[in-house]
Amino acid sequence: MNLFDVYPLYNVTPTKANGMYIYDDKNEKFLDLYGGHAVISIGHGNPYYIKKLTEQMKKISFYSNAIQNPLQKELAKKLTQYSKCEDYNLFMCSSGAEAIENALKLASFYNKKSRVIAFKNSFHGRTSAAVAVTDNPKIISPLNAQQKVSFIKFNNIYELEFELKKGDVSSIIFESIQGVGGLDQPEEKFIKEMCLLSKKYNVCVIADEVQSGFGRSGDFFAFQKFNIKPDIITIAKGMGNGFPVGGILVNHKIKAEYGMLGTTYGGNHLACVATLAVLNELKENKLQENALKIGEYFKSKLEKIKEIIKIKGRGLMLGIEFDFNVSELRKNLIYKQKIFTGGSSNKNLIRILPPLIINKNQVDVFLKSLIIELKNEKLYNS
Ligand SMILES: Cc1ncc(COP(=O)(O)O)c(C=O)c1O
Repeated sequence: MNLFDVYPLYNVTPTKANGMYIYDDKNEKFLDLYGGHAVISIGHGNPYYIKKLTEQMKKISFYSNAIQNPLQKELAKKLTQYSKCEDYNLFMCSSGAEAIENALKLASFYNKKSRVIAFKNSFHGRTSAAVAVTDNPKIISPLNAQQKVSFIKFNNIYELEFELKKGDVSSIIFESIQGVGGLDQPEEKFIKEMCLLSKKYNVCVIADEVQSGFGRSGDFFAFQKFNIKPDIITIAKGMGNGFPVGGILVNHKIKAEYGMLGTTYGGNHLACVATLAVLNELKENKLQENALKIGEYFKSKLEKIKEIIKIKGRGLMLGIEFDFNVSELRKNLIYKQKIFTGGSSNKNLIRILPPLIINKNQVDVFLKSLIIELKNEKLYNS
């Protein structure tokens, strides 16, 4: 059997990792500015995380959601403390897309409507409704296209109200900092007005924090910059530092009923312990504060590089835009400079999603390497 060939792969085979670094099968050391797609939050091989997971594995790793699991309750309590999101309940699942599916489904159960408003350049996952609310026709199959979705532009409140007035909209889903789409952010005024309109038209607002959550933006959740209270918040990625875990925070106004949502793996003992360990390390090592501080430092240094036409995002979720396709530049950063970076649907943009433990020296190493590689800029433009 061969692998179903859906991923274009870089020719690197990581065999171990520690902190900000990944080592390949030839023991070459790579600086990780990608975090395996924003997943590694507290760093590779964090000793506390390993200790807690190992201890839990020796006790019990998994049982179904048909039994009491006090770890889920402990996690819900700690999440309230750390995120300061009061008036929410927690439902756990195992990935970002699953969190999105549950959020959209719950909104539809709540207001008995079915159309979704999503935004241009959005990315919310690959499964049924999640991919339907993703603005990329190439990854939407005819099966997924059956969902009723309207894509509108950020910051156009008239277009939004025009759609809401039709009366069939169940939810509005948005990213406070677009990830895969290229790091664009909506204006605060628009998001605030969107929330007011959602109440007027009985529509649920879903904040997708799968990529931007758990401290990455410098706030616990990126939407908190707008001072709003979404009806549902989706979480995953950095939540587990590599352990597959996701979830939704559901506002108290949406009431649970038995059987409404469910999962075999979601909220298992290991998933809870992984997330609790992440929260502990975020706090102990002040990683959210570090994301803010290093993000500002990073931006201030990038501003001095003349080849860069735009710097987007905030905290440790940054986009560096050029006036040429960056795929060769990113290859050179990996193979010559030994630095992992991310891409996006904007082909001219490098995405920076490092573990939140990154320090100024590591930023400087990247900047030095970038400047060396940009000397070949003519090569990229040709
Ligand atoms: C904002 C956002 N939402 C949802 C998802 C889907 O998450 P997963 O890949 O865990 O299904 C992603 C993944 O990149 C994402 O960036």
